[in-house]
Amino acid sequence: MCVLTGAGISAESGVPTFRGDNGLWKKFRPEELANFEAFIRNPELVWEWYNYRRQLIENVIPNPGHVALAQIEQMVQEFTLVTQNVDDLHRRAGSKRVLELHGNIQRSYCVDCGARDDRPDFTEERKIPRCRTCGGLIRPDVVWFGEMLPQEVFEEADAAARRCDLFLSVGTSSIVYPAASLPMVAKQSGAYVIEVNVERTDLSGRMDQTLIGKAGEILPLLAESMISNRRVQQ
Ligand code: OAD
Repeated sequence: MCVLTGAGISAESGVPTFRGDNGLWKKFRPEELANFEAFIRNPELVWEWYNYRRQLIENVIPNPGHVALAQIEQMVQEFTLVTQNVDDLHRRAGSKRVLELHGNIQRSYCVDCGARDDRPDFTEERKIPRCRTCGGLIRPDVVWFGEMLPQEVFEEADAAARRCDLFLSVGTSSIVYPAASLPMVAKQSGAYVIEVNVERTDLSGRMDQTLIGKAGEILPLLAESMISNRRVQQ
């Protein structure tokens, strides 16, 4: 089994999604905040935005959708959770193996020497953190527009999509590639593909089933039915 999640799974925790009426990209311009040139032009502004999101994420907790996926991982022998989210909520809910396609907002690294520094040094005066090793700029460890996904992570996700017999696509608008290719890769390889979303997406017509509803309500039902099936089998 392979599961792909997007911002919608964290919506019920209070983390805003990117698209839709209340989405982040309605209020903020990705070209000013989520690409490398913008960062070099104005690192202070980009860090201000990421620090705001980091803080928001630190103050929320995983919801029943995240918890259900962690429970399912324990019941299924071969299970891969692939996420586009950078919020770490899957791990905080207990998921063990999480493939993060777009990085993790709690991590950061130096653009010059690559050294990792997850606790960048911010002070009242220092609004742009610098590398403790080489003095280079520290950036958030997230994938920005125009950047490549971490290759090994994507290859693992792609391999899991090709291998699985059931693929769930949860809370994603399915318009950002290559993540959005994974459900179709799974389908072409013979998997049954189910989408869970509060509304239909561009890919709904190509899914085997679209379950319309909140991830935090539908996924716990799926986990519960798997738990009772196991009880019957034992
Ligand atoms: P989007 O904001 O594009 O889409 C969120 C999806 O979640 C929408 O289809 C909503 O209908 C759905 N949704 C909202 N609440 C939900 C709920 N409670 N249960 C189920 N579904 C719900 O987010 P992503 O598809 O994750 O990339 O966006 C993909 C990428 O675009 C992000 O990773 C980010 C963004 O730009 C980068 O930053 C590189």
